[in-house]
Amino acid sequence: MRGRRIRILAAGAALCAGVAGACRGRQEERTVELHVGVTYYNQSDTFLNELIGCFKDELVKLEDSGFETALTVRDAAGAKRTQDDQVQELIDAGCNILCVNLVDRADPSEIIDLAREKDIPIIFFNREPVAEDMMQWEKLYYVGADAEQSGMMQGSLAADLIRCDEHVDRNQDGKIQYVVLEGEAGHQDAIIRTESAVDTLKSNGIVLEKLSCGIANWNRAQAKNRMMQMIGQYRNQIELVLANNDDMALGALDAYEELNYQGSALPVFFGIDGTDEGLKAVREHRMHGTVYNDKEGQAAAMAELAAALICGKEPVEMPFENEKYIYLPYYKVPGDSGLPENRNP
Ligand code: BGC
Ligand code: CA
Repeated sequence: MRGRRIRILAAGAALCAGVAGACRGRQEERTVELHVGVTYYNQSDTFLNELIGCFKDELVKLEDSGFETALTVRDAAGAKRTQDDQVQELIDAGCNILCVNLVDRADPSEIIDLAREKDIPIIFFNREPVAEDMMQWEKLYYVGADAEQSGMMQGSLAADLIRCDEHVDRNQDGKIQYVVLEGEAGHQDAIIRTESAVDTLKSNGIVLEKLSCGIANWNRAQAKNRMMQMIGQYRNQIELVLANNDDMALGALDAYEELNYQGSALPVFFGIDGTDEGLKAVREHRMHGTVYNDKEGQAAAMAELAAALICGKEPVEMPFENEKYIYLPYYKVPGDSGLPENRNP
């Protein structure tokens, strides 16, 4: 098991503005201790590593508002049992807020029971529990994004390119032969992203022909393998690769690279996330567009919510849906700019 513990001592913690200020007595000047325990499903996940990096930065920022923050991060390495044990361990270590990225999003009951016993709120993130589980206790929250929106944006980016570049339809048969690389089965983002991307392409008048679809579990190496198989089967017929995330789009590119496909022999590739590598591939015109999964916004929402909860404050000013859910918007990253559209830097 791997983990890291970062302890940041409040520098002075002078006048505590905002949320922390509300925790204090009128004249009293003291810091508020916020010890966050994070457990996430797998440390090999690129997007989550970047998101957790942003979350660390957000906790450091809270120091300026009079919080003394500490963060303990655990990798559950894809095992639910490990994650359940980690939650117990984080509670024993004194964490007063838990941020949980579930290994098994359909089975959070043990984690909820452990937290409830010690009255420690849970902010689930990125892997959304089912609605009934979110109702198990009032101190359960979710921070994430709307899968359908990301699929629609991916579909619309692909439709724009297909409409303005006749070369995408390489065999000029009036249809776009495509393949899909899908994330983990059972993940809220996988199926919905695929369906809404395909529906959006169709509703934009693009005639599609599906050649194949493979599950690659969000993973670049698995996507490369799947893509190698698909190329073996369909040779140069594939004109469009829709991937549920950037890592899988990059894995598809790796496969074509290994087989020495170049220039006009390549299909067009679309991802989702806007990871560092994904954005780089868009800037280099190797990927033709992606959709920015706002890790900074999600991390900021998690930190703000954690701060409010530790003060026992109702976080009323946050943009909740159904009182428990915060969904940050996605942003299109078209191939010509390589930058998230309409997003404040
Ligand atoms: C991201 C993927 C990530 C997955 C992990 C998705 O929202 O787009 O890159 O692997 O979450 O749960
Ligand atoms: Ca075609």
